[in-house]
Amino acid sequence: GGKWAGKRVIVTAGPTREHLDPVRVLTNLSSGRMGYALAEAAHARGADVVRVTGPTERPPPDGVATQRVETTADLQRAVQTLTKGAHALFMAAAPADYRPKTAAKTKRPRGEGSLTLELEPTPDILASLQRPKGCVVIGFALETGDGLARARQKLQDKALDFVVLNDALEPGAGFEVTTNRVTVLSKGGRQVDLPLLPKR
Ligand code: CTP
Repeated sequence: GGKWAGKRVIVTAGPTREHLDPVRVLTNLSSGRMGYALAEAAHARGADVVRVTGPTERPPPDGVATQRVETTADLQRAVQTLTKGAHALFMAAAPADYRPKTAAKTKRPRGEGSLTLELEPTPDILASLQRPKGCVVIGFALETGDGLARARQKLQDKALDFVVLNDALEPGAGFEVTTNRVTVLSKGGRQVDLPLLPKR
């Protein structure tokens, strides 16, 4: 039973990471908590949920299938495949936006002086997603100031149905905390400001 019974929901969570060499990576501070909470909430409403997660320590929420990925390209492949036939995609992951142009096959030795890395952009998963018919797409915008304008831009550029804005510098919001303070914007121009709440 439940309001979302019969609905297939894909939730992405956590960071991705990109290798410099076999033992070193570029990544970010995403904890995967927001995606975890979304997956739990969708499952509690009766949806059939798949959580696609980058590397985090969190065990999967009960009743939620989990697919693990490492890089942004892995996440892109998983999202493209899993959203076929899905009713909603909650894109709460924080994919790495850049990767080293060349990853060394063996551990880079320590050199003298400074090291310059050449980075190339990773794919923008939402912007390049082949939109399955009938799939509602919810993106997240993590900002550090002037968030509303940037979130509206992301809503448009990534052709989202909704964008969830949060400010990483606001106390109790953003990465590595159990609460969040978000503003939800819809493509139809609606804006809902929620108070500080547990992510769940
Ligand atoms: N996202 C994505 N592919 C990427 C990076 C981000 O699909 N390579 C998604 C995120 O999962 C999120 C939304 O796009 O739902 C916005 O992510 P955010 O990091 O706020 O924005 P970016 O597009 O990365 O832009 P910027 O870093 O310049 O703010």
